Order: sequence, then structure tokens, then C-alpha cells
Amino acid sequence: MPYYRVSGEIPRKRHTRFQRPGGGLYAEELMGEEGFSSDSSLLYHVNPPTAIVKSEAMADLAGETRLAANHPLLPRHYRTQDLTGTGDLVFGRQPLMGNDDIRMSFVTVNAPSGLYRNSTGDEAVYVHAGSLRFESVYGAIDAVAGDYVIVPRGTVHRWLPGPAAPAGLHATALVIEANGHIRTPKRYLSQTGQFLEHAPYCERDLRPAAGPLFAEGEDVPVTVRHRAGLTTLTYARHPFDVVGWDGCLYPYAFNIADFEPIVKRTHAPPPVHQTFEGPNFVICSFCPRPLDFDPQSVPIPYNHHNVDSDEMMFYVGGDYSARQGSGVEIGSITLHPSGFTHGPIPGAVEAVIRGMEAGRTTTDETAVMIDTFRPLLLSDLAAAAEDPEYAWSWGRASRG
Ligand SMILES: [Fe+2]
Repeated sequence: MPYYRVSGEIPRKRHTRFQRPGGGLYAEELMGEEGFSSDSSLLYHVNPPTAIVKSEAMADLAGETRLAANHPLLPRHYRTQDLTGTGDLVFGRQPLMGNDDIRMSFVTVNAPSGLYRNSTGDEAVYVHAGSLRFESVYGAIDAVAGDYVIVPRGTVHRWLPGPAAPAGLHATALVIEANGHIRTPKRYLSQTGQFLEHAPYCERDLRPAAGPLFAEGEDVPVTVRHRAGLTTLTYARHPFDVVGWDGCLYPYAFNIADFEPIVKRTHAPPPVHQTFEGPNFVICSFCPRPLDFDPQSVPIPYNHHNVDSDEMMFYVGGDYSARQGSGVEIGSITLHPSGFTHGPIPGAVEAVIRGMEAGRTTTDETAVMIDTFRPLLLSDLAAAAEDPEYAWSWGRASRG
């Protein structure tokens, strides 16, 4: 995150005496990546951010979720609509798939979370439906459907559900936990970190956490995910006591509707949709856009086999009638693993060409794709929401 921001009140020089009203000094906290060699922010707390009074081990149910290899090899289709679990955004996560680089979970939020700090990596929370409020030491973000909220490793934060929809639903979200940092693709940035003109989004599209945000409290528990598991650290004072911060490291939101799609005359491959990159994975946003416009174009994906990748796709909006016969609809997640060639259902190309001849010029599908460069392992929870017929949908269609 290379974009320098200032929030709240800070002194003119770093590491100088910053007086609190009524006496005493504000306490500095430098949050920095890669030792002191990458992005950082400097926060000013009313109370020392070091003052803990208790440390207790916690059971780690989600962390212990058993993930099994995709064996025998199959393309998969999971229906998140069939996942019945609810909870808060942190402990209500229902892990679906993952590996040593990434874990992906689905959550139906119906309660506020406690304070949480993930010290194993960055998180990207994609809000599928409803709304959520993210609160952190950096300030708050009001997140709505379509937002990716990027939470840097080590950020003390909590998630509050937004107002309930008529059916009682507060929010659903896909949670991506990385074993490292989630960043803007390097090719979108200048040498010094400014978004370039060819990038599909830019600084103006990012909504940083805005503060200050204060909360009162003594003996405040913060659950920390660390390499050995979960620990609850009890802080002497509430960590939300930051009067100001500056730097290039902070949580922010980016809405998928602000992604500017890049279109070619003939079909463009998924790298044009890339939105973020993480260690051994990429996140892409497929957004409504004009269909490829060559009169002879085939405007849907060609069969392809990314031999080094497993491809997960979360279908979040639009009309999926073009995928008739596959069972895919809004809320579906597909997994097309390395070792399997995937593409349109037989008959889909002809159908979209007929649509173009009848005047169709756009596609309105929205999807979030995550390609991993190591195989994805699958959870029992995912198996419970699996459509067992999906793997055969291409074969069935080709036999008519
Ligand atoms: Fe693909």
C-alpha cells in the first residue's frame, strides 16, 4: 500500500515529544512491514500499546479444520447458499479451501466480533451482501456489498454487523486469509508507488480507515492469531485510543464496482481483471463490461488449462442464464484445479453468438476469482455444500 495518508493529529517531526493535554506524552507505535524495510505507519496512542496484563491460550476450531486433497481430481461447485452456519466475522468463518499460502472461508454475519489481531498475514474480506462496519486502531470503514476490505497483518480491529435486511440477514462475506501481504499488482504502480494511467483503479478509488476512533475500557481482551494458534491478550486500556497516524500502511476498502474493466477486440485473459496479489496467489475482479467487439469474436472464455494454478471463482452478481446447465448461480463457488481443462459448457458459445446477433453488446456478470499457484485443499464444510453433478456438466452437454 504505497499511498501516504495522514489521519487525525500528529506532531511535525517523527519521534519528537508529542504532549497530551493534561500532561504526559502520547505513546508512539510503529506498525512496519518487512522489518524496517517496507511500508509502515506511525500511530500515536493515549496509553502505551504495550501494556498487557494477561495472556491465555484459546482453542482454535477454525485453524484446526481438516483440509483434504482434491483426490480423485474433480472440478467442484459449492453452493454458499447451502451453508447454514452463522456467527461473527472472525469466529463464524466457515473454511472452504486453502493451502499453506491462503485460506478462504464464507461467513454469514449475525453478531459483532471481539477485538482481533491476525499476526500471520493480511486479510481481504469481500462483502457479498449486506453491510459491515470495520473498526480499528486506524479508524473505521463502513463496508457495503462489493467492497474488498484489506486488513494488514497485525491490525487490532473488530467487525460489527450493519443493519439487518428484512429477512434478518446482516451480511455475508468471503474471507481470504493470506500467509503474507496482499498488495496492488506491481505493474499498476510507478517506481515510487503511484498508480499508473493503465491501472484499472487508482488512489481515488481506495477508502482508507478514517479516524480517530476512541473506545473506553480497562482489561480489554484482544484475540491474537499467531503462528502457534490463538492467544487472548488482555490489555490494560482499550487499544482504540489513537489520536492520529501517518504512513503508507493501513486498512482500506475498494469496491468492485470501481474496477474499470479492460476490454479487447477479441477475448482478453484474466490478468486484465487482476486486482490484488498475495504470496502464491492473485485476486481478480470480473465486472460488467462490453462484450468483445470484433464481428468474428467469440466473446466468452476459450477452454483453458492454467497448468500451474488452481482457480477458484465466486459468482457474486449478474445474470447467470448463460451458464445454464452448469448449476452455477449467484452465491456459487467453483474450483477448476490444475490437471483439468475447463471452459464454457458445450452450446454456450453458440448461445452467446446468437445473443450478439440479436443485439446483445454487454455482459453483466460480476465474479471474484482467486488463482493459487499451489493446489487447494478442501474442507468437510465445503463437501456438505457441494453440487456433485457439476463435474459432469460439460460431458452431459456434449452428449446432448
Ligand atoms: Fe479459468
